[in-house]
Amino acid sequence: MVTATAMAAEPKKPSRVQMPVVQTKAGEKCVEPTDVMRRDHMKFILHQRDETMHRGIRTVKHSFKNCVNCHADAKTNSVLGKDGFCQSCHTHAAVKIDCFECHTAAPEPSKAAAATKPAAGN
Ligand code: HEC
Ligand code: HEC
Ligand code: HEC
Repeated sequence: MVTATAMAAEPKKPSRVQMPVVQTKAGEKCVEPTDVMRRDHMKFILHQRDETMHRGIRTVKHSFKNCVNCHADAKTNSVLGKDGFCQSCHTHAAVKIDCFECHTAAPEPSKAAAATKPAAGN
């Protein structure tokens, strides 16, 4: 009974809705808690773009390149495509973004592996 109540209180989505293909490696953590990211990731990157483009501020934490470095599929080397992290979820949610017309969907070769470690030397 207690368990059922706790479960019901969780903002759990039915499996047919918005299931991203998450391809990150064990032990990795996102830049914010997963539930926050699920809801607000666009705010972080859109905000970060404003800061970078208009005020010249660059932080690593919410960097767009960092998202791609961690979330790109190891096989396709991309966050796009049918099983790509960003696109798989956006397709379900009927979201269209133009970001990848300019930004690469592939991880930086050197950082693809380094992204698994906590950012030490920044
Ligand atoms: C017309 C081309 C273009 C489009 C479309 C575009 N960007 Fe950018 N973006 C740039 C350029 C140029 C820079 C600055 C160069 C850089 O930092 O690599 C930049 C920088 C950024 C940065 C800061 C650098 C970083 O890696 O964190 C973020 C965040 C960002 N863009 C997010 C987005 C998002 C999110 C979208 C989609 C909603 C988007 N951009 C669409 C051209 C574009
Ligand atoms: C250090 C690696 C790393 C970086 C950098 C990173 N993420 Fe994550 N992200 C993860 C992990 C690990 C999860 C949790 C996956 C899980 O819980 O199944 C996650 C979860 C998410 C989720 C929720 C997925 C879901 O299950 O609903 C979104 C959305 C997301 N990240 C977007 C981003 C964006 C946007 C950026 C860049 C601002 C970013 N991530 C940067 C590793 C990373
Ligand atoms: C867990 C599912 C999920 C994942 C994974 C995901 N997104 Fe999203 N994204 C959404 C949803 C849902 C929206 C629309 C939210 C809204 O309209 O309020 C959205 C909206 C956005 C927007 C704003 C679009 C606009 O026009 O306002 C951007 C930019 C974005 N996502 C970028 C990304 C990037 C980049 C990744 C991969 C690193 C990613 N998302 C991964 C679900 C996801």
